[in-house]
Amino acid sequence: MNSVVEPRILQKRPETVDRFGLASTWERADAQWPSHEQRTLVCCRVLDETHDVRTFVFSSEEGQPLSFEPGQFITVSAEIDGQTVSRCYTISSPPTRPYTLSITVKRTPGGVMSNWLHTNMTLGRTLSAFGPAGVFTPSAGPARKALYLSAGSGVTPLMAMTRAAFDLGQDRDVVFVHSARTPDDIIFAKELDALSQMSSAFRVIHVCEAQGEQGGWQGPMGRLSLDLLRARVPDYQEREVFTCGPEGYMDAVRQLLLDGNHDPARYHQESFDFAETIEVVEAAPEEASAQTCFSVRLARSGKTFTIESSQTVLAAARKAGVPLPSSCSQGICGTCKTTVLEGTVEMKHNGGIRPREIDKGLRLMCCSRPTSDLVLDM
Ligand code: FES
Repeated sequence: MNSVVEPRILQKRPETVDRFGLASTWERADAQWPSHEQRTLVCCRVLDETHDVRTFVFSSEEGQPLSFEPGQFITVSAEIDGQTVSRCYTISSPPTRPYTLSITVKRTPGGVMSNWLHTNMTLGRTLSAFGPAGVFTPSAGPARKALYLSAGSGVTPLMAMTRAAFDLGQDRDVVFVHSARTPDDIIFAKELDALSQMSSAFRVIHVCEAQGEQGGWQGPMGRLSLDLLRARVPDYQEREVFTCGPEGYMDAVRQLLLDGNHDPARYHQESFDFAETIEVVEAAPEEASAQTCFSVRLARSGKTFTIESSQTVLAAARKAGVPLPSSCSQGICGTCKTTVLEGTVEMKHNGGIRPREIDKGLRLMCCSRPTSDLVLDM
């Protein structure tokens, strides 16, 4: 499970104090892009960040502003070698610059989508994407003092939060500790350093596992450790922690913070390790006996299919040849979020949907099983 902490109910604070953690700050009534809605994005810039990381900047096809929260992701899809491949990428640009949207992608050996993007995505090319989703956002843990911990391309959601805070003119007390393999692998190094020059409340610490080809790295060497945290961020226990990086890194960070008596309720993490897969095999239903069949109707398209009580809606739709948006198939990413207009389901998710969305009638189709006939808002 990747998002481990349910978002809390937000305390109402005066707008002049800090709007950063309020989800409503990022909602623009004129620019909603629901997570289940697929749109075409047009590539308008490609930037080399490091030797194997590029930022791809997109605008909407119609030139309309795009609404999202810092830390959210989009699910992009492309036809690669005759197969539809989907992959989640965090938006690295801030919602305070709504006319473009960036993803920052590391070319990984064997990574189908990352290699395709690096090779094919050039100015004017288009990409299909489902709308922003995810709960790894400032509203998951609004706080005056934060500690951002990232490794590798896990820097992207925290960069979006950082850029948004600076764009809003908010002098947030943030320590940003980013781990990289070598100095040559530090993503956004110059921008982070420049931002730290602009505010004494924003500190950046880069930790490198090894010297790069140039050598001469003067900063901390090795991996993030409790000793390093105690020495460089002595008030870490007072800070809301946001972590993003590979699973192994986040496991180590979580343990390190537990050892350091940091409150787990103030810990939030995100990872997309699951998303390099093209298709996820549906887990066997817990109860395979006493099957009941129900009907599912998609209100907008008029399509219908039948579903057994042990099946998830996503699995039944796939079996019936009805495409529904999905990515992780594990209740994590939120891509399959859909409003249930009529009927009831049982849903077991892994953090991909917020309580307020459930209250509004939304459900995740990949981890919802029917308990009656259904009508979905699709
Ligand atoms: Fe990711 Fe359903 S596909 S939550």
